[in-house]
Amino acid sequence: SSARFTLHPDFAVGEVDPRLFGSFVEHLGRCVYTGIYEPGHPTADDAGLRTDVLGLVRELGVTAIRYPGGNFVSGYKWEDSVGPAEERPRRLDLAWRSTESNRFGLSEYIAFLKKIGPQAEPMMAVNLGTRGVAEALELQEYANHPSGTALADLRAAHGDKDPFGIRLWCLGNEMDGPWQTGHKTAEEYGRVAAETARAMRQIDPSVELVACGSSGQSMDTFAAWEATVLAETYDLVDYVSLHAYYEELDGDRDSFLASAVDMESFIENVVATCDHVGARLKSKKRINLSFDEWNVWYLSKTQREAEENPLDWPEAPRLLEDNYSVTDAVVFGSMLIALLRHADRVTIACLAQLVNVIAPIMTEPGGPAWKQTTFFPFAQASRHGRGQVLDVRVDSPTYETKRHGEVPLLHATAVRAEDGTVTVFAVNRSQSEPLPLDIALEGLGLKALIEHSALADDDPDARNTLDEPERVSPHAVTGTRLADGTLSATLEPMSWNVIRLG
Ligand code: AHR
Repeated sequence: SSARFTLHPDFAVGEVDPRLFGSFVEHLGRCVYTGIYEPGHPTADDAGLRTDVLGLVRELGVTAIRYPGGNFVSGYKWEDSVGPAEERPRRLDLAWRSTESNRFGLSEYIAFLKKIGPQAEPMMAVNLGTRGVAEALELQEYANHPSGTALADLRAAHGDKDPFGIRLWCLGNEMDGPWQTGHKTAEEYGRVAAETARAMRQIDPSVELVACGSSGQSMDTFAAWEATVLAETYDLVDYVSLHAYYEELDGDRDSFLASAVDMESFIENVVATCDHVGARLKSKKRINLSFDEWNVWYLSKTQREAEENPLDWPEAPRLLEDNYSVTDAVVFGSMLIALLRHADRVTIACLAQLVNVIAPIMTEPGGPAWKQTTFFPFAQASRHGRGQVLDVRVDSPTYETKRHGEVPLLHATAVRAEDGTVTVFAVNRSQSEPLPLDIALEGLGLKALIEHSALADDDPDARNTLDEPERVSPHAVTGTRLADGTLSATLEPMSWNVIRLG
C-alpha cells in the first residue's frame, strides 16, 4: 500500500527560524581541542583553528552555536578562559573527569564564529551550577559592555576592543539532572533563573534568555519542572529548553526508527505546559522552545564506559565519539522533520554536538576531517529547509513498535522557500519495504521536479570512517514524476529523502 498527503499554500505551520539549524560546541572530549582548534595542524590558521573543519562547518550550514556546555558549564569559570592563553589556569572539569587547559576560551569562540561567517551566532551559557547571579552579570559585562568599566576595559586590554554582542543566553544547563554539578530542585532553579534573568535584563533589556527545561521527557520531574520554573520566570525569559537523545536499544530497530514520535510528543507536551502556565498567569506572552540538544547518542555505551573505566583527568580524551550508520542518519533526518513540523514554536534547535563528540564532523589529530552519515541530512535541511513550513498530514500505512505503539511508515514535512520552490523531507521507516508516495500539490504553481535525493544503503550499518570516509553519501533517485498536480515517488526502505520542486 502507499502513502499520500496534500500540500496547499493556505495551510502553513509557520516560518522557519534560521536558529533551528544551530549546533553546539562543548568543552568535552575532542570537540574543541583537535576538533575545531589544533595549533600546528597542517590546515590550522594563525589562530590555531582548523580550516578544513571550518570549511565543513560552513558546508553543514549551522547558525547559532551553543557554548561552552553542556555539563561542562556547571563548573565553568569564565575568567579562566580569557586573557593571555599561556597564563590561563588548568582546571579539573568535573563533568567529564578531564583537565581543561583553557587554551581555547571566550575570545577564541567569538573568533571561530566570525570565521564561519555572518550566519553564525553566539549562544552563550552561564554557570548556574556552582555559580550564580554575580558571575553571570560579570560575564555579560565583560562580553557586551562597550567600554569604560573595569570588565569592558579588561576585554579591550585582552585584545577585543569591540564588544562581542551576545544576545542569546542559556541560564545554566540541565539543572534538573542529578548528574549536574550544583543540581537543583525546580523551586531552587526557578528562583535563581528568575533573579539572574532580572539582573541580566537590567544590563540589557534586549537579551534573549533560555530557561532550563527537562533533560528529557522521561525524567521523573518532567512537566512539573517546566511548570514550576516557568511560574517563576515566565515574564523574564523567552525560551524553555528541551534535550533529547535516542539510540537503538536491545536490537529493537523498529522502535529506534520511530524515535521522532517521542520527540514530537515531547515538543507538544512542553508547548502545552508553557501555555498552561501562560493561561494561569493570564499572560498574552508566548514562550518558545529551544531544543538546544538533540541527536542520536549511544548514551548507554558512554555510561558503561564511564563506570567501567573512570578517567584519570586526561586532556581532550576521545569521548562520545559515536560513528553513525545509515540507520542512525535516517533517524536523525526524522528528528529534523520533527523540529520542522513544529517550527511555529521550536525557534531554536542545536544539534549536539559539532565536531568529534556525537558529531556530524570527525577529525584525526594531525590528520584529516570527514563527514559522518548525519552530516548530509543536516546540510540538506539547512540549505533547503528555509521558508514556510506547510502543514503535512500524512495518510500512511503503519507498523507496530514496542516502544511507540502503531506508527506511520511515512514521516514527512515540506518547506516553501521565498522563491516558491518547495522541498519535501521524508523518511520511510520500513526496514524492508519500499514505500510508494503520492503528494497532491494544490495552488503552489509547481511545474517541475528539481531533484529527488535519498540516503539509504543495502547495508543499513554502513558508515563513514577514517579509512573509508566517503563510503556513504546521498544518491539521486530516478523514477520520481510530477504529472497532473501529483508528485509520485517511491521511497527506498529505511531512507531519508529530499524532493525539491519548482
Ligand atoms: O551533549 C552531551 C551532554 O548531554 C551535555 O553535556 C549535557 O548537557 C547532556 O546531558
